[in-house]
Amino acid sequence: MTSRDSFSGRFGIIAAAAGSAIGLGNIWMFPYRCGQNGGGAFLLLYIVCIVIMGLPIMLAEFGIGRKAQSNAYRAFRVLSPQKPWYMIGVMGIVAAFIIMSFYSAVGGWTIEYIIRSITNTMSGNHAEQFNGFITGSYKPLAYQFVFLALSFAIVMFGVRKGIERSSKILMPLLLLLLIILCIRSVTLPGASEGLKFLLTPDFSKLSGNSILLAMGQAFFSLSLGMGCMITYGSYIKRNEDLTSSAGMIAGTDSLIALLAGIAIFPAAAAFQIEPGSGPGLVFITLPVMFQQMAGGMFFSTLFFILLCIAALTSAISLIEVVVSFCVEEMRIRRRPATALVAGCIFLLGTLCSLSLGIAPQLSLFGMNFFDLMDFTSSNLLLPAGGFFISIYVGWALKKRITVKELTSDGTLKFTGLRVFYFLIKYIVPVAILIVFISGLLKTFS
Ligand code: TRP
Repeated sequence: MTSRDSFSGRFGIIAAAAGSAIGLGNIWMFPYRCGQNGGGAFLLLYIVCIVIMGLPIMLAEFGIGRKAQSNAYRAFRVLSPQKPWYMIGVMGIVAAFIIMSFYSAVGGWTIEYIIRSITNTMSGNHAEQFNGFITGSYKPLAYQFVFLALSFAIVMFGVRKGIERSSKILMPLLLLLLIILCIRSVTLPGASEGLKFLLTPDFSKLSGNSILLAMGQAFFSLSLGMGCMITYGSYIKRNEDLTSSAGMIAGTDSLIALLAGIAIFPAAAAFQIEPGSGPGLVFITLPVMFQQMAGGMFFSTLFFILLCIAALTSAISLIEVVVSFCVEEMRIRRRPATALVAGCIFLLGTLCSLSLGIAPQLSLFGMNFFDLMDFTSSNLLLPAGGFFISIYVGWALKKRITVKELTSDGTLKFTGLRVFYFLIKYIVPVAILIVFISGLLKTFS
């Protein structure tokens, strides 16, 4: 494998990996979870989880990927031949399909909402409109298809020309749009209540469950536990500093979640919208607000474009995990491989989409197919993946190899090495185990 594609430099790495990390998890999921769990207190917990769990796992994934210079499955075969660790890679590929099946559906919704904003066709009962749309038959599927086609087009061009180039344009654009929205939001009359809610932690609103949610959120938000960062790590050049890159990526990811909160809560407070109104916050509550606001449709268009971009740069990272496997292990060329993967995702995604409306019989264990895919990936596959990755790097992989990788062959200093080992060996696996077991107990009790 002499001509492996790679990221051109530091900005490329950070744009692409932050593009993967920043997604629906930050802008759609974070604000409503934060709203339901005491605002500032949840924000604080989330940041703690990013630092003590997210960062070490991200570093571990980057290290594995760059050392092995291959896709997430092959990486474990290269580093530990004849051991079953490669199952982590297999699980990651399964997880990529599963996450993409519902992620692409939500990605499609963002396109519908961009069009509704541009054509100014949002009016009446927003909850009814939203539910009417997502439970429809062909329309959500058509948009899901468009969303997948866009992701496909980017991945097809490869790592540097597709993923890196698009992220370098899209991520700064996303930041700019978000800042515009934040400024609009905090300058609305009555906005300060919302800011207070987000920035002053009210610990009385926290429950045991909030801690678990914050951990899961940190995990999903940083794209960890399924080989995404192993795959991206394998495109990082040897002389780049993995530790500071990981720090930058985790920092930007938390910053964007914070900014999403600043864009949403003050505006919600200004229009007396309940911050804890759940998953519909973005698609139902925000349109209510945009409609009452001067220039609302303009800001609404910006917001949904922002959401779509965030979803797109995350989707390409999920697709890349599978495409790199197909290209390197099955020897399929990149374009047909990408088309094949996108096609399979569309089939699975169709089931997700239809299970919300016209085909309610598509359900298992009392969940519709959409929720089942979300549950299986976020609550089972990702924590399991993260657990095994931390055990692998903490206990199985030779320390010499890891240290060599994280210091770029000893040319860079990594002062936090001991802290890293302490976290990855003990704290991370134990914490994940607690989340995992209590999550399962709660669901099946
Ligand atoms: N991190 C993305 C978000 O916040 C989603 C995502 C992309 C992801 N790749 C992933 C989640 C890998 C888990 C694993 O929306």
